[in-house]
Amino acid sequence: MNHAKQSAGRLAATWIEPGMVLGLGTGSTVRYFLEALGERAQKEGLRVRGVPTSLDTEQRARALGFELLDLEAVSSLDLTVDGADEVDPALDLIKGGGGALLREKVVASISRRLVILVDATKCVERLGSTFHLPVEVVAFAVPVVRRRLESLGAAVRLRGAGPGGTSDYRTDNGNPILDAVFPNGIADAAQLERDLALQPGVVESGLFVGLCHDLLVGHEHGQVEHRQRD
Ligand code: A5P
Repeated sequence: MNHAKQSAGRLAATWIEPGMVLGLGTGSTVRYFLEALGERAQKEGLRVRGVPTSLDTEQRARALGFELLDLEAVSSLDLTVDGADEVDPALDLIKGGGGALLREKVVASISRRLVILVDATKCVERLGSTFHLPVEVVAFAVPVVRRRLESLGAAVRLRGAGPGGTSDYRTDNGNPILDAVFPNGIADAAQLERDLALQPGVVESGLFVGLCHDLLVGHEHGQVEHRQRD
């Protein structure tokens, strides 16, 4: 049990209003949110409808009796609740530690409001200072993207790779992930996000710049701090 994550998740669940169409994020913090939302569905009869960002969330949401929607059915979402691996003071993020970055970013891009839940350990001055940057790539392009990331100063490892250097790890979309460690952090996250978006073979990077509206930071003793993008 992680009280900090749980407190943030439970508070976010109180923000959900009847009729909202939700984006349902992925990860251990979001699980607390889903649980608390499930309790509201039981006690208050709240109808929960949303688009899941991973197969894991899809299974959990289905088990809780939520109505699952796909992107054919909705063109925008009222509110998405998700986790993050790092958050900087501008509320820019690194995501994808759990491998769900692509669907998370697609869902975030059509959300009127993105609420991010973290514990205080995820708050950093500069992105990339405590966590690697996940980059989802097509398998064919792994060597090309690896060399590109190395040329940008990163130490790169293929997620799940054993001593032979190969990996069976695949995201929900069937792609490998390169995890890039920037020894001094990421100096300009917006520029790096643009550079990677232009790199052939990159499916998506875990940089989420300008997407988060609200941040809930859970602390160990249950307090939750709310920060909003300026
Ligand atoms: C999933 O790929 C990630 O983007 C998660 O949202 C992120 O890793 C946060 O995970 P936890 O809530 O488990 O820390």
